[in-house]
Amino acid sequence: MPRLAELVAVCQKRGVPLIEDAAQAMGASYRGRALGTFGLAGSFSFDYVKTITCAEGGAVVTDDPALHDRVQAFTDHGHDHRGADRGADQHPIIGLNFRLSELHAAVGLAQLRKLDLILERQRAHKRFLKDGLADLARVTFRELPDPDGDSATFLSFFLPSEAEARQAARDLAARGVDGCFYWYDNNWHYHRQWQHFKDLASPALLAVKRAGWLEHLHAIHVPRSDALLGRTLCLLIKVNWTPDQLAQRLTQLRAVLA
Ligand SMILES: Cc1ncc(COP(=O)(O)O)c(C=O)c1O
Repeated sequence: MPRLAELVAVCQKRGVPLIEDAAQAMGASYRGRALGTFGLAGSFSFDYVKTITCAEGGAVVTDDPALHDRVQAFTDHGHDHRGADRGADQHPIIGLNFRLSELHAAVGLAQLRKLDLILERQRAHKRFLKDGLADLARVTFRELPDPDGDSATFLSFFLPSEAEARQAARDLAARGVDGCFYWYDNNWHYHRQWQHFKDLASPALLAVKRAGWLEHLHAIHVPRSDALLGRTLCLLIKVNWTPDQLAQRLTQLRAVLA
């Protein structure tokens, strides 16, 4: 989680609506309150690497009834869902087809019943690895604003330099240690190589593709993020590791990181 108290305060002061991307944070909390519920709206992903999954899909949570209706319409071709006759629905806005099917939702409900167990195991696995790396001088861990609320899907840590982080990622991959990500060079999770996004490359004309936007996107310059991400490795935490697999993983990690 981010430093939510500060974010909420700055948003309130500036009159900016806070929208939380809690995609990876189902079951996580900050000072006892669920992530995704601090601002105007929060979103969750249920894709297959998330804490619980529907195979695909997601959810938006909000306590604003007007926003609720707008989101619901947007996800379903703009239907207002006022009655049982879909053909009689009004369409207050143009929407897309982001519907979650009932079959997917049924999988999600079954997964939701396992959430506490999943969190308990992830937290235990993360604690084991973190404790097992704690004495290594080259490794420092990212700060968690509220460690008790961590859903423990990832363990992120820093190495002293970009070169060492990149080398460690290569060495871990060579030893077959999967799920150790170096996001800085990754085409998906960090802006550096999102050329399609910076060019607003789309199958049809985008409403936002106005004068000035491309220049703005091409000019994104975030040196502090670059400096942090350049040194960061991020380990996926799995629910179904056996004690042996966990111990082997720690041995391999220590061999590379020490
Ligand atoms: C923080 C964050 N936001 C958004 C997404 C995208 O979720 P989805 O694939 O369900 O659209 C992800 C998934 O990787 C994520 O981790």
